[in-house]
Amino acid sequence: MIVGSTKEDLSLEKRVALTPETAKNIIGLGLKIVIEKNYADHIGIKDKDYESAGVEIKNSSDEVLEVSNLLIKVNFPSTSDLSKMKQKTILVGMLNPNKNFEKIKELLDKKISLFSLELLPRITRAQSMDVLSSQSNLAGYRSVIDSIYEFEKAIPMMMTAAGTVPAAKVLVIGAGVAGLQAIATAKRLGAIVSATDVRVASKEQVESLGGKFLMVEGSEDMETKGGYAKEANADYKKKQEEMMKDAVKKNDIIICTALIPGKTAPRILTEELVKLMRPGTIVYDLAAEQGGNSAFSEVGKIINVNGVKIVGVKSLMNKLPLTASSLYAKNLFSFIRNLYSKEKKDFNINLEDEIIKKSLVTEQKNGN
Ligand code: NAI
Repeated sequence: MIVGSTKEDLSLEKRVALTPETAKNIIGLGLKIVIEKNYADHIGIKDKDYESAGVEIKNSSDEVLEVSNLLIKVNFPSTSDLSKMKQKTILVGMLNPNKNFEKIKELLDKKISLFSLELLPRITRAQSMDVLSSQSNLAGYRSVIDSIYEFEKAIPMMMTAAGTVPAAKVLVIGAGVAGLQAIATAKRLGAIVSATDVRVASKEQVESLGGKFLMVEGSEDMETKGGYAKEANADYKKKQEEMMKDAVKKNDIIICTALIPGKTAPRILTEELVKLMRPGTIVYDLAAEQGGNSAFSEVGKIINVNGVKIVGVKSLMNKLPLTASSLYAKNLFSFIRNLYSKEKKDFNINLEDEIIKKSLVTEQKNGN
C-alpha cells in the first residue's frame, strides 16, 4: 500500500503533512511513501532528507496521485489534484467539510473515502491524533509572542535604578487549548494574567496556571456533554459585557480565543467595549477567521481604533510552519497507524471504531 503526499498551495499554506521523521515511522508500519519533488523546500527540508528516510521522490503531483492508495494533506487538495485522484483513494487531512461541501460530494461520488481530522472525537485514545489541540496549542503560544511584538511597553515588572516598570496585564478570553497555552506563555514572560470562559470547569485550569478566573456571576455553566461551549444566551451575553466593562479598562493585551464548533465565533468585545480600552491596548483576535470575537476585527489586518490595535489573525501556523508540521505529521502518523491493518496489509475502515466513524466524512456530515 502506498501513502502519497503532494505540495500544498504555497500562497496559503506553509505546513506539510509529512516530515522525514514521521516518514520513517509510516514506512515502519510496512507502507511505501511517495511525494512530489521539492515537497518541503520552502521550510528547509530537502528531498534528500526524505530520501534518507526511505521516501520515493516523484517528478510531479500527477505521478504521486497515480499510485497513492492514501493521500495525506494539510488542507483540501487543489482542484487539479482532485481531478486526478484515483477511484477508491483514501484522503486524510484538515478538510474543513463545512466549507468544502460541493467538492466533497464529488469525491464521495468517486468512491473516495475522506477523513477530516477536525472531526476526531476528543477521547483519550485519539489524543495523539488531535490536530485541533496540537495546532491550537501553538496558536496560543504564538498569540502572546505576536501581541507583545505589537505592544509598545515591556511585559515583566522590572525594578531598576532608573525606576520601576509595572508588569503588563493580559486578559485571555476563552480558556480552551489555545487560551490555556496563552495564559501559560504570558505568565512565563512575567505578565499578570486573567481569563474568562463560559465553561465553569476551565476555572480550575486557569488557576492552576497562575491566572485569575473572571466568572460571569449568576449564570449557568455553558458546557455541552462533549466538553465544548454552548452558544451563550442573551442573559449571559449581557452579564458578560457588564463584567468586561471593568476588565477591558485594566488590561494591556487581550487575547481572544473563544469558539463554538461549527458556528461563527461569538462576538464578545463589542464596539462599546473597544471604545472603553486605553490607547496602546492590543486586541489579538485569534478567532478572526471564524468571524471574530472583537468588533472592528478584520482578517489579516491591524485596525487602529483610537489608539487600540485590533489584530485580525490570519493563517497563524504559517509563522511557525516547522513546529506546526512536525506536530501535525505526528498526529497523522497516529491516525494512519490506527487505520492500517498489518495483518491484512490494507487500510481497514472499521466503523465500529469511534475514531474512524467520527472522522469519516459522509454526505450527512457535510455542511452540518
Ligand atoms: P474551542 O477552540 O472550541 O473554544 C475555545 C474556548 O472558547 C473554549 O474553552 C470555549 O468554552 C470558549 N468559549 C466559547 N464561547 C465563549 C464565550 N462566549 N465566552 C468565553 N469563552 C467562550 O475549544 P478547544 O480548545 O477545542 O477545547 C474544547 C474542549 O475540549 C475543552 O473542554 C477541552 O478541555 C477539551 N479537550 C479535550 C481533549 C481530550 O482529548 N480529552 C483534548 C483537547 C481539548
